[in-house]
Amino acid sequence: MVQRITGFKPTGHLHLGNYLGAIRPLVAVQHRADSVAFIADLHALTVTHDPARVRSLTLEVARLLLAAGVDPEHTLLYVQSHVPAHSELHYLLECTTGYGEAHRMIQFKEKAGKSSHTRLSLLTYPVLMASDVLLHDAAEVPVGDDQSQHVELARDIATRFNAHYGQTFVVPRAVNPEVAARLKDLADPGRKMEKTNPSAAGVLFLLDPPEVLRRKVSRAVTDTFNQVRHDPGRQPGVTNLLDLLTACTGQRLGFSSYGQLKAAVADAVLDTLVPVQERFAKLDEDDVVRTLRAGAATARERTAPTLAKAKAALGLR
Ligand code: ADP
Ligand code: TRP
Repeated sequence: MVQRITGFKPTGHLHLGNYLGAIRPLVAVQHRADSVAFIADLHALTVTHDPARVRSLTLEVARLLLAAGVDPEHTLLYVQSHVPAHSELHYLLECTTGYGEAHRMIQFKEKAGKSSHTRLSLLTYPVLMASDVLLHDAAEVPVGDDQSQHVELARDIATRFNAHYGQTFVVPRAVNPEVAARLKDLADPGRKMEKTNPSAAGVLFLLDPPEVLRRKVSRAVTDTFNQVRHDPGRQPGVTNLLDLLTACTGQRLGFSSYGQLKAAVADAVLDTLVPVQERFAKLDEDDVVRTLRAGAATARERTAPTLAKAKAALGLR
């Protein structure tokens, strides 16, 4: 049984929210818990996409995960589309999921509402995510709270499948990182920091040059209270900066001005990201490709028994 699984969509450059919410928790446990990290390239096709960009981002995300400390000796790292079992189980799970269940997903409603041409795969995307998790018999899914509903769906699907067709899947649970469960956009603290935001002003990308990171922090939206208080309702911008600082440094400090707070946040962000950027620069792309290939071979082997069990349980022979 795998302890933890995390997926990263190659829809944009990774940012500090991904790092604090998903990568760092994974790196922290990988030596004690069997972990899986995969590039969810199939998920990247659920919205309008540019094939060349998906291809290059897939490699960039993998390289960044390695630079951020994901250790392929301990974490199974691979690209989702290299392991056909994800798609195979996806279809089988679609046959055990209701249309209404998928249609209720908040993220689907949000994203579908914004586009005039919604892909059918956007609706079934959480079922593919359930397939990702259940295929590995994963116990825990460390996600930002934007993904909790999808993990809940995976639990429902697993529980129902087991009840109808016999014990097949481990029922997973979502684990939220303590701080920065949902890091907010610095320029718009009402929305989460997101790689697909068309405006990069409030998104701290892991590969942003240090001076860009500093500038983004210095321009972070605050308020006119002029008091550094942790008050998510009234001071969302300042609260987000405080959470970010705590997540990076482990400390909760007091500040007398917004300028002082921002300077501390910028230092903390650079202390966190510069070492990752340095390791990224040193990694050889061919090595990354080799690591991904080996990971996929292992993943194909490891996931075969659960897929076979699910097929047999459903009556396929
Ligand atoms: P994005 O929403 O930026 O496209 P992904 O969907 O690829 O990111 O998410 C990769 C992982 O990072 C997921 O586990 C997700 O929950 C986490 N994550 C994404 N954005 C944030 C955020 N702003 N704060 C905390 N965790 C986040
Ligand atoms: N849906 C996740 C997101 O948007 C990415 C993802 C796909 C994932 N499959 C997963 C995360 C499996 C954890 C486990 O953030």
